[in-house]
Amino acid sequence: MASLIIKEGVQAVDATAGNGYDTVFLAEKVGPEGHVYSFDVQQEAIDNTYNRLKHKNLHKRVTLLQKSHEYLKQHVPDRVAVIMYNLGYLPGGDRRITTKYDTTIKSIKQALALLLPGGIISIVLYPGHREGAEEKERIIPFCRQLDPNCYDVLNSRLVNKDQPPPELVIIQKRTR
Ligand SMILES: C[S@@+](CC[C@H](N)C(=O)[O-])C[C@H]1O[C@@H](n2cnc3c(N)ncnc32)[C@H](O)[C@@H]1O
Repeated sequence: MASLIIKEGVQAVDATAGNGYDTVFLAEKVGPEGHVYSFDVQQEAIDNTYNRLKHKNLHKRVTLLQKSHEYLKQHVPDRVAVIMYNLGYLPGGDRRITTKYDTTIKSIKQALALLLPGGIISIVLYPGHREGAEEKERIIPFCRQLDPNCYDVLNSRLVNKDQPPPELVIIQKRTR
């Protein structure tokens, strides 16, 4: 869905840089005239993301911030077309450093204000671990109460898995 929304020249945010796959995806899509702001609290994630970007010569399109995404509005100056959250912990990293529902919701509130009409926030939730289950318990009701005149909200999940599977939430700001 993000592929359909992002046009060359727009601004985008990766709220959880991790190993940099989503940041690279966004940097490729926004093109040379666009820009991406990419947040992560861990030095390891910022380094991994920088290296992945540099390898593809995309690093100049991205501002990397070793900051919590709860400070989104302090660091993103313009309105943006896409904001991505891939929640949880760094794959292959320290599982104790994980996103948490209170700071995630604080960030999503700011993301809603930064979003351009027609723009989307995508959130991947991982309820298979404790903090991820808490995030799901808080974030789904938060999204459900968003004003339907302002936002369309989609929630999808795999239904043929035993373990709590990842879930996707897409919030789109309505154009009118
Ligand atoms: C599942 S990983 C993200 C994967 C990433 N999008 C990718 O493409 O590789 C989740 C990341 O969120 C980061 N994180 C945890 N709390 C955070 C916070 N408050 N603000 C920003 N990032 C946070 C973790 O350090 C971890 O690297």
